[in-house]
Amino acid sequence: MDTLLGLERTHSCGELTTQHADKEVVLCGWVSRRRDHGGLIFVDLRDRSGLVQVVFSSEMDKNAFVKAESLRTEFVIAIRGTVKLRHAETVNTNMPTGHIEVYCAELRILNKAKTPPFYIQDNIDVDETLRLKYRYLDLRRPEMQNNLMLRHRVTKIMRDFFDRNGFIEVETPMLTKSTPEGARDYLVPSRVNPGKFFALPQSPQIFKQILMVSGLERYFQIVRCFRDEDLRADRQPEFTQLDIEMSFIDREEILSMMEDMTVEMFKKSIGANITSPFMRLSYAEAMDKYGSDKPDLRFDMQLVNISDAVKGSDFKVFESVLQAGGQVKAINVKGYANIARRELDSLVDYVSIYGAKGLAWICYTAEGIKSPITKFFSEEIVKQITDTTKAETGDLILIIADKPSVVAQALGQLRLEMAKRLNLIDPDKLSFLWVVDFPMFEYDEDNKRWTAMHHPFTSPRDEDVQYLESDPGRIKAKAYDMVLNGTEIGGGSIRIYNRELQERVFQAIGMSNEEAKAKFGFLLDAFEYGTPPHGGIAFGLDRLIMLMAKRNSIRDVIAFPKTQSATDIMTQAPSEVAVEQLKELHIRPTAAVKKS
Ligand code: AMO
Ligand code: AMP
Repeated sequence: MDTLLGLERTHSCGELTTQHADKEVVLCGWVSRRRDHGGLIFVDLRDRSGLVQVVFSSEMDKNAFVKAESLRTEFVIAIRGTVKLRHAETVNTNMPTGHIEVYCAELRILNKAKTPPFYIQDNIDVDETLRLKYRYLDLRRPEMQNNLMLRHRVTKIMRDFFDRNGFIEVETPMLTKSTPEGARDYLVPSRVNPGKFFALPQSPQIFKQILMVSGLERYFQIVRCFRDEDLRADRQPEFTQLDIEMSFIDREEILSMMEDMTVEMFKKSIGANITSPFMRLSYAEAMDKYGSDKPDLRFDMQLVNISDAVKGSDFKVFESVLQAGGQVKAINVKGYANIARRELDSLVDYVSIYGAKGLAWICYTAEGIKSPITKFFSEEIVKQITDTTKAETGDLILIIADKPSVVAQALGQLRLEMAKRLNLIDPDKLSFLWVVDFPMFEYDEDNKRWTAMHHPFTSPRDEDVQYLESDPGRIKAKAYDMVLNGTEIGGGSIRIYNRELQERVFQAIGMSNEEAKAKFGFLLDAFEYGTPPHGGIAFGLDRLIMLMAKRNSIRDVIAFPKTQSATDIMTQAPSEVAVEQLKELHIRPTAAVKKS
């Protein structure tokens, strides 16, 4: 094997252009591809910046040529050579460096490589498990490197923005106490305090509020958070937040500051022009029109309430739902009346995943209306449905009757599914909105108690505070979410900064004063020492980068993500530990452990 001794890299592969013609360069990188053409060997040399073609000719340097014959993909090499313009007929316009090539004068093989388990190139169709096991190879692929570089650029822009606006970055502890954000905690046993545990932070929520009490006024942090929850494509057990808190502000100031940041970030990182202020929807309106508190507004297809239109019909299903306080809602899938029967049946299965007990349809075909339910309706009712849904010939109306939460969930999901099937979503569009006026509490049917919808440090609207004891369900919170293309990318609120109100909110979620003191006594105490009004927000950095990079999974923008079952296939974490180590930590496992 050769070394780099005496050779110093002068350029990166991707930066070479016709400007470098006739220059001697030293390049380093990986063999992406080797092609033999008799007396000529072509190697695509790859480094982080891109690819360049290197030419080995038997007429130039015999030694280099012989060595080049032994090159295999992913060998690590250094070459010294001269940049040459390609002849017109060999120019490769698919390659940024396709107008030039480098004629090699000296080749050094710095390391060999086994044949990789998949091609190191973009758009590969490889099982993700294999990609995660060989993550070091997966991350060699240009698209993955671009994702990480984008992530780096975005955090740099964020830091610059906040620095310019008087925010300071403060680190908060990783070994801490439970911070409630609605998920389970990751616990860390304390060796020196038998039987006691730290929790990894679900967010820095309490610390950033304490920093406001401390008079820091404007804080931000790019910070790892940990949540032991069911994983999905946009959820990881450890993920990164851009966390922000400000003192002496109201909702309008924080929303407009965050819009400015978002506009700047999208412009400077991916060149996208976004207009602000962003649209706003109340939670109630979002649920009503889109069946979701994070609606995708890249297409329309709103949910239409047809309860009044169908009231009093002979269709028992609808009547009994309405009498039980439910609703009947529809979406108009424009131009899809000729849907196959089989596809309709599959849609019934689809909505059943979301709890719908059925799906009714009306096809407005050129030959007239086709539907299994219109036989129960008078002409007047059919006309009412047609009018309310604005149905025209060629349209398909899909209807769900159920309690409001099921209708929202099932029809909201169906709206997204139909948009996908009909290709209604423009992948280049960026649809931002704020969802505001969230309910303060939601009722947990399983545990028969109210829980905070955002978190219990969120302030109720001033005019609603009076209902804390009598009617928690009607209270709206000073909470807001930023939504992009149907994904919640950020959420925050104006906070409670007064002990008495905080205690009343804890009580409303069934937390006794003793429990509140034990868990958050330090925060309640702090509130009594001059706490400024404050509020903030946190963005999901991984989700943001995922959307910017147009990926479907946050795993593609995290260097070393976990699988759906919260494991790391490459390092094989989590893993068993030695019994001695557990003993030291005062832990007796109930699951089987390996004897070391
Ligand atoms: P929240 O819980 O809404 O608010 O989280 C803020 C944002 O973090 C992202 N996010 C996640 N991303 C990836 N994987 C996860 N498991 C995950 N969970 C959340 C989302 C979300 O919008 N302390 C409050 C913020 C505040 O009130 O200032 C908080 O954490 O994009
Ligand atoms: P049934 O009388 O149960 O056969 O239902 C007649 C039609 O109404 C079928 O197309 C069902 O899929 C549909 N349907 C049944 N329940 C509901 C519901 N809750 N909401 C909407 N459509 C329903």
